[in-house]
Amino acid sequence: MTHESRPEDDLLAERLTWSRTSPARPIPAPDVWPLIRFPSTPDPFDAPMRVEADIVGIECIQGEVPAHLDGTYFKAVCDRQYPKAVPEGPLGAFNDDGMAISFRFHKGRVDYKSRFIRTPRFEAERAAGRSLFGYYRNPLHDDPLVEGVVRGIANTNLVYHAGKLYASKEDAPPIIIDPETLETIGHYDFGGAFTSQTATAHPKIDPRTGELVFFGYAAKGETTRDIAYYEADANGDIVHETWFKAPYSCMIHDFAVTQNYVVFPVIPLRSELAWLEAGESTFQWDPQEKVHLGVIPRKGRGDKAVWYEGPNRFASHIMGAYDDGRRIYIDTPVSHSSYFPWFPIVGNGEHDPERSKGYLSRWTIDLAGEGRSFTETRLSNVPSEFPRMDDRYETLTYQWGLMGLTERPGHDAPGRGFRWVATIDHRTGAHRLYYPGDRATVGEPIFVQGDENAPEGHGYVFVIVSRRDLMHSELVILDAQDVDGEPVCTLKIPLRIPRGLHGNWVTAEELARRD
Ligand SMILES: [Fe+2]
Repeated sequence: MTHESRPEDDLLAERLTWSRTSPARPIPAPDVWPLIRFPSTPDPFDAPMRVEADIVGIECIQGEVPAHLDGTYFKAVCDRQYPKAVPEGPLGAFNDDGMAISFRFHKGRVDYKSRFIRTPRFEAERAAGRSLFGYYRNPLHDDPLVEGVVRGIANTNLVYHAGKLYASKEDAPPIIIDPETLETIGHYDFGGAFTSQTATAHPKIDPRTGELVFFGYAAKGETTRDIAYYEADANGDIVHETWFKAPYSCMIHDFAVTQNYVVFPVIPLRSELAWLEAGESTFQWDPQEKVHLGVIPRKGRGDKAVWYEGPNRFASHIMGAYDDGRRIYIDTPVSHSSYFPWFPIVGNGEHDPERSKGYLSRWTIDLAGEGRSFTETRLSNVPSEFPRMDDRYETLTYQWGLMGLTERPGHDAPGRGFRWVATIDHRTGAHRLYYPGDRATVGEPIFVQGDENAPEGHGYVFVIVSRRDLMHSELVILDAQDVDGEPVCTLKIPLRIPRGLHGNWVTAEELARRD
């Protein structure tokens, strides 16, 4: 299926890019500061928090902190500085301001810190005392004061590589922040080598080479089909760049990296310029469009990408991927409709909660097979998202994974959101589950290696639990091989940590290797 561009699109497209050379014009302070009044949230726990905090020595309310853990858990969360300038509906945290939080572990003490990420957008709005940017990923309805200002909100992930801590969302270049103070340093373009308008929030680090593998989609501005694929070496210098075009413009939130290939999943959460112009949702689910997986050898040329087709499906995060030379295996929760209910359906279709449930599945591409299609095999029968793995096995054959569950068949849990943490052993398909209680939800679980030489999946699981009845958050540490047992420890944060997306553990040894 093709989605033709219109003659007027070129002119519009110019307004969808930000400028590297035109700084934002000064934002005048208002004569009287605007009234701040946020709309109410269905659950008071999810109201904006807007607190930048330092807590030295978090209270441990259960168990004991493993004293040998030496490092920092960084996580991106989403808060909002001001009420939105435009009505957005239930967009979740997608369009909220990025905040970095950190838990520093050293000799049994854990310190907590949180700071808003000072994006150009955040600073412009702070100067004005109100929101100036409009719809999600749509600059056409912004306040004219901020024309050309980078719209990125850096609210999705914090990734550490080669001495730099990157705060990213897929709508702009990454921002680097100080890993100790969480102060914003600014946008980073790898010494001028990074020319894409955007960078994924899901880069991969090759554990064998230390290379950072990443990409940008909508790389020449919103709705463009352009993808830029990069690799940086272990020192953080870009050593590979190639550009190519996706079959259609869509959200490419994550991608698969193996030892020998990169795979770009083009999923029919499409984007069209006319939708932005009309103030409609920038992304809309197209139930008629196919999935296309673009395969490129590592450090290969984009124009040599080979595209493999599959039926209409939704997928977002990838648990793990690897290849055996002939076949590429990609494990991801797959649903039959968009997982995100707030994005409309092309043709005014109704969102179907059953069809939007994601089940961990394996997509297999046979590079030596006949035809250009891939196969799908279900790996789990519980709906899941936020898949993670033991990152020491990124790009490699792996057996152990981690995910969040919104439901567990046969078990009633009141309320909404992610309620369980689950592990999966791919050798048996068996799950083990952690349930924090009826009035609690969980964030993305991550694996933390207690000992870098420990076998795969042997270590800890960190998960932030929202205690919705008590109006505070907890960092719960589980034994990764026994998540259904008593937690190793529970750390109480005496405030609500805003809803978060992704995070990562960085050892003190890695942090010491800073520039
Ligand atoms: Fe993500």
